[in-house]
Amino acid sequence: MDLLIVGSGFFGLTIAERAAAAGRKVTVIDRRHHIGGNAYSEDEPTTGIEVHRYGAHLFHTSNATVWEYVNRFTTFTNYVHRVYSTHKGVVYPLPINLGTINQFFQAAYSPDEARAVIAEQAGEFDANEATNLEERGIGLIGRPLFEAFIKDYTAKQWQTDARELPASIISRLPVRYNYDNRYFNDTWEGLPTDGYTAWLERMADHPNIDVKLEVDFFDESQPLNKKATVGRLPVVYTGPVDRYFDYAEGELGWRTIDLEQEVLDVGDFQGTSVMNYPDADVPFTRIHEFKHFHPERADRYPTDKTVIMREFSRFAERGDEPYYPVNTAADREGLLAYRELAKGEQDVLFGGRLGTYQYLDMHMAIGSALSMWNNQLA
Ligand code: FDA
Repeated sequence: MDLLIVGSGFFGLTIAERAAAAGRKVTVIDRRHHIGGNAYSEDEPTTGIEVHRYGAHLFHTSNATVWEYVNRFTTFTNYVHRVYSTHKGVVYPLPINLGTINQFFQAAYSPDEARAVIAEQAGEFDANEATNLEERGIGLIGRPLFEAFIKDYTAKQWQTDARELPASIISRLPVRYNYDNRYFNDTWEGLPTDGYTAWLERMADHPNIDVKLEVDFFDESQPLNKKATVGRLPVVYTGPVDRYFDYAEGELGWRTIDLEQEVLDVGDFQGTSVMNYPDADVPFTRIHEFKHFHPERADRYPTDKTVIMREFSRFAERGDEPYYPVNTAADREGLLAYRELAKGEQDVLFGGRLGTYQYLDMHMAIGSALSMWNNQLA
């Protein structure tokens, strides 16, 4: 074996695929029972509807290198992501656009009129001087829209009142003064035609790649554990960086989400793939309805059943799945300390969202793995 990769998410698999193509023998271990990390999906057994096991995953990128690379393993559908929001029993389009504004204010503003209305409402606070998230949000889009669509939604995500949250969580709140409610602005967007798992399996499908599942790098009863491998062969580690160093510099904070899946006896529950629930009296933040990610599979999917997933957000404890870095000042300090420790590790490279303590979209995880391969491993 020439290289050990800990973690079979997009980061680990991209390194594995590149190394195997260059003639290296690679072993990928993952502590889960499946490959693919958080992008893994599987068919719900009673309906056959593809469900994204760790929350909805939409592929989008403007990076031509990444787009060319991912197309070697899968084709993409022409799915275009759109999100709606149910506030006080009325559905609005997101991101906030002229349609949202006119519906919310029961108006027929032109783009310039809407701009003037929002600018006046936003005048209540200077967003640059804001001392907390509420002031920042109001300074960006005005109180009415902030309170309807952002305030309680963010408070639910962070389990913290907007006045207690740092202004830095939001740098901008885009408002579109036209009726475009396409969610992503990227050049390319779509979902893998045969699903995420087929894509991920194709990346690992090479005689030079050996994947071992249900192997934890820190389990010393397994032959490929940290003690037995580090210093003896090159390792790419994509698990949590604080765990690698046994939390020597403290635990880095994460938010996790609880996902509650339900099969319903209706053909169509909400008419769209994602509905946000920004109000405080609804405990979840959004509902996904998976069949809408693949309208082209209509003839395969049942017409009398659907699969939905409610998403609840909370702070992660040790043992929970870490999903989004909290990134407090203490976390950033801890991260710097871990980066110093990482530099001292012989022949170990840290990558991916957990290994670098960063939120990375899939295209970013793949792009950064391609860079690590080209610059540090090839
Ligand atoms: P990833 O977490 O996927 O893989 C790491 C792997 O390491 C895991 O399989 C884990 O089991 C393994 N591991 C950890 N510790 C180990 C140990 N000790 N021993 C062995 N194995 C170990 N992106 C996007 O582009 N569009 C989207 O819509 C979304 N949506 C989305 C929703 C939610 C809820 C989240 C949390 C994230 C997204 N993402 C996303 C981001 C996407 O999930 C992310 O880009 C990839 O998971 C990153 O891949 P990595 O390989 O870095 O980590």
